[in-house]
Amino acid sequence: GLGVSKLLGATGLVTLDPGFTNTASCTSEITYIDGAAGILRYRGYPIEELAKSSTFAEVAYLLIYGELPDQESFERMERRISRHRLLHEDFRSFFTSFPSSGHPMAILQAGIAGLATYYEDTLNPHDPYERELATILLLAKMPTMISYIARRAIGLPLLYPDPKSGYVEDFLRMTFGMPYQSYDIDPAVVRALDMLLILHADHEQNCSTSTVRLVGSSDANMYASVAAGVGALSGPLHGGANEAVLRMLDMIQTSGMSTAEFVRKVKDKEDGVRLMGFGHRVYKNYDPRAAIVKETAHDVLSRLGGGEGDRKLDIAMELEEVALSDDYFVSRKLYPNVDFYTGLIYQAMGFPTKMFTPLFALGRLPGWIAQYREMIADPAKRIGRPRQVYNGSTERHYVAMHRRQ
Ligand code: ACO
Repeated sequence: GLGVSKLLGATGLVTLDPGFTNTASCTSEITYIDGAAGILRYRGYPIEELAKSSTFAEVAYLLIYGELPDQESFERMERRISRHRLLHEDFRSFFTSFPSSGHPMAILQAGIAGLATYYEDTLNPHDPYERELATILLLAKMPTMISYIARRAIGLPLLYPDPKSGYVEDFLRMTFGMPYQSYDIDPAVVRALDMLLILHADHEQNCSTSTVRLVGSSDANMYASVAAGVGALSGPLHGGANEAVLRMLDMIQTSGMSTAEFVRKVKDKEDGVRLMGFGHRVYKNYDPRAAIVKETAHDVLSRLGGGEGDRKLDIAMELEEVALSDDYFVSRKLYPNVDFYTGLIYQAMGFPTKMFTPLFALGRLPGWIAQYREMIADPAKRIGRPRQVYNGSTERHYVAMHRRQ
């Protein structure tokens, strides 16, 4: 019933749980999810309250340090992040060494891992000073890195960070601004992006976070561990889903296929096609983040004049309606997840499709850092080393190549 089988291995009891559907890998005080009730809380605070009233920078503080900051602690953190936003100048040539059409997630993963080579005095996770500096450096440099990758892909000159401007605001300016010109920022867009980043900031032991913890359990430095998380996030079943959703909506729109026809293909599992942005390992009722994102998609698209996006929003809503009244989806408890509507918002903001998953990575960064730090500080920490149930050949003996059939 539970999908867990127990086997007696040579060294004692071994449980086999593919996909870890019933296996907890750690205890954690960071994020609470009740999948049946559709509840998500960071450090006890409901996601709806944080999305409405907080900022991404404040949520990052909350996740990493455990409490909402007072004014002074918050400003101290912001100042430290602002001071470190510049990337080492050599990084420019690092970015140009990849094909400009290369996927941003691949470049981001390499860039994050590469930070370890510039900041060798921040690599020891057990030294509180080094761990703290690595935390700040990652938070500070990730937006600059992502905007550099986005600019290079379209051949625009890279813009340096402006320490006087806010975290999300400056990320938008570096990504969309022009040299020597002031960038007219739309506060509603800043707010919408800030809120989307909050929604992505942590999600307990998901695939990328578990990866960060597993890599870090060997005492690998924070950059190596977060880079591995970026790799895990790139897959279409995880963070890559936001990009896959938009490609799916594009395909439905350009092919002229009806949403009902597409849903039929999904149900028939034709070529393994899935309704991207639907389903979740833990949420079996609804994803509370999806409800907030759907509302934002309406607001942002009506504000920015979605154009093509408006039609895609219609298709997305139609798909949702068809799916939610279809027994295939209802019986499997498949509902829209956070990624179903985010791509439409990112597109309306001007982000190219390939940049969607790096935006997810930027949002998830505080969660990865918080979880890494909790893992390192856990007195019960041991190197992560799952067991297996071997089902290969029994002992056999080497045969010379000329004798093999
Ligand atoms: N479309 C169609 N059918 C689906 C979908 C989907 N999106 N998701 C699950 N199913 C079906 C499966 O085919 C399976 O049915 P079956 O028993 O007839 O074969 C059943 O639902 C259970 O699916 P699993 O793959 O076993 O569910 P799991 O918990 O392992 O996977 C996952 C969860 C990966 C999110 C899955 O629902 C999926 O692939 N969704 C689409 C990709 C996506 O949106 N990912 C983003 C996840 S959220 C995030 O990372 C922020």
